[in-house]
Amino acid sequence: MSLNNLLELLNRNPDQYVSGAMMSQELNVSRTAIWKQIRKLEAAGYEFDASTKLGYRLVYSPDGWNDDILSGTLSTDRFGRVVHKYEQVKSTQDAAKELAENGAPEGTLVLAEEQTGGRGRMGRGWVSPQGKGIWMSMVMRPNVPIHCAPQLTLLTAVALCRSLKRVTGLPIGIKWPNDLLIHGKKLSGILLESAAEDERLKYIVAGVGISVNLSKQDYPEELLEKATSLRIEAGQPFNRSTIVAQFLKEWETLYDLFLQEGFRAIAALWESLSVTIGQPVRLITPQGELEGTPIGLEESGAIRILRADGTTTAIFSAEMGEPIKRT
Ligand code: BTN
Repeated sequence: MSLNNLLELLNRNPDQYVSGAMMSQELNVSRTAIWKQIRKLEAAGYEFDASTKLGYRLVYSPDGWNDDILSGTLSTDRFGRVVHKYEQVKSTQDAAKELAENGAPEGTLVLAEEQTGGRGRMGRGWVSPQGKGIWMSMVMRPNVPIHCAPQLTLLTAVALCRSLKRVTGLPIGIKWPNDLLIHGKKLSGILLESAAEDERLKYIVAGVGISVNLSKQDYPEELLEKATSLRIEAGQPFNRSTIVAQFLKEWETLYDLFLQEGFRAIAALWESLSVTIGQPVRLITPQGELEGTPIGLEESGAIRILRADGTTTAIFSAEMGEPIKRT
């Protein structure tokens, strides 16, 4: 019996429980063999409702990357035109960096079904279970000085937010600098890593993690209060290929606008999507903690903070806490 035989049987009975006895009879194998195959399917991202009395009901099947996405439906010029797909990698960032070092062209995309050592900002990890999300890194080669790198992070957040809102209709916003939130919980993160030469960027590897079809069981207990997925919020799964294609289109359009006209227009878009502006917060910067209200983005990509004493400060890098609730 192959996994496909079992899947075919389960799919012939959509939304119904299929008993272990029936499966073992139909497929002519022992119930232990069925149970082992079910465990394998779970490890590959399938989800079941299991009942000791009734058997198993298939409730979620991973969508699998559609080979067409990046040729058929994709309408970009460079972004995603060369794709490297992996079943499992430690981190797509490492795979994309290696490709960049070996001369991969701008727009080269690395997609993985699963990351075993997904990296977040500030040395944190990134939950990347198999078949449930979009774990991707793209090589960029903008001909701009190093100090423009933060602007590209913000640009990526704008493109991602606009495309996810369009595909899902969910009320998604950006928390400075580059977290995407829905109902206060994190949905997606962006990690830009760069290499420079003579004060100019040699390449950037832009890593994007989008929690698309994760269920609550996919998160460690301690993250459930802070993290969520599109599926949890919308109560329905989404097609990952559609999201990637939309995002790449939006990203390339904004990137070209940025290269031609600079950051100003992108900053205005970022501000309009921000859930950060106007909310008093505590910021942990490399120089220490401060409190204030973010009032806008600088052309440099820094955020301008209004302090209680009426002065303002521009912050480039910080950890932003929860909004401070005044009573
Ligand atoms: C963050 O918000 O802390 C950034 C998270 C970035 C996660 C993505 S998933 C694809 C790429 N590969 C990684 O190891 N990290 C990024």
